[in-house]
Amino acid sequence: MNYILWFGKSVRFLQNLRVLNSFSLLKIITTKAQMQQELAMQQGKSIGFVPTMGALHNGHLSLIEQSKQENDFTVCSIFVNPTQFNDPADLERYPRPVDADLKKLQDANCDLLFMPAVDEMYAKGETWHMDLGDLEHVLEGAFRPGHYQGVTQVVKKLFDIVQPTRAYFGQKDYQQVMVIKKMVETLNLPVSIVRCSTVREQDGLAMSSRNVHLSNEEHQLALTLSSALNAIKESVGVESVAIAIEHAKALILSKDISLEYLVVVDGATLKDISDWNQSKELVALVAAKVGKTRLIDNVVLS
Ligand code: PAF
Repeated sequence: MNYILWFGKSVRFLQNLRVLNSFSLLKIITTKAQMQQELAMQQGKSIGFVPTMGALHNGHLSLIEQSKQENDFTVCSIFVNPTQFNDPADLERYPRPVDADLKKLQDANCDLLFMPAVDEMYAKGETWHMDLGDLEHVLEGAFRPGHYQGVTQVVKKLFDIVQPTRAYFGQKDYQQVMVIKKMVETLNLPVSIVRCSTVREQDGLAMSSRNVHLSNEEHQLALTLSSALNAIKESVGVESVAIAIEHAKALILSKDISLEYLVVVDGATLKDISDWNQSKELVALVAAKVGKTRLIDNVVLS
């Protein structure tokens, strides 16, 4: 058989998938060498790439769908990257529903899954530093020191391995997209970064792999974050920026939520703004803990 499988459980699972959908079968590879062979077979085709840490939801699937529309061949990666977790407990807790992910990728007609082990991606004692300027130290960077070094490290490696024409990232991780664009620009990497809209639950909660950790009660509380962002959006041009932020913060702080930040910034620099007309793209961003689960969300205001 033509497919590269990495453990028995998934072999059984893939055999089931074959029954489910006999027209296309997700190909799974785990090494850089296999990816090189695959790239040789796909020569001349445009490659769309959706890097993920698994626990796939409709947000990821929308990226795959867009990639399929815009490219000849779509690669998804699942790799829970240890270097971007500054809290070992968070890494430990990160959901890893492998079988469910494989089924989703199969149903989405993704062409290839790259699912490496940690030692395939990192050499022992490897160190890394990329100058990301201020972006590394504000908002997410301030609350998760080292996070964006880990993100750029793994995304650069994945780009080298997959050699995509386009790579797709969700707007929910607004700052991450900026960081990756900066890396691509700085290193002159031959890949286009495509930012795709945040996909939300019907009730407004931004889809996130971490949402599985929320109890029903916490899920209800978490809705306050999107409500607060929407309240800011409705205040544009009506109230001052400072008042809009104050009201939105009050909404969050009236609940059992631990707010980390809620800001309205220039989308190009992430610097605070004080006037709605101050920049081309204005964005409101929030990060908070609901119970033990840390959530982020944002809305573009202009
Ligand atoms: O957004 C994510 O899931 C991760 O940060 C990414 C881009 C896959 C890098 O590990």
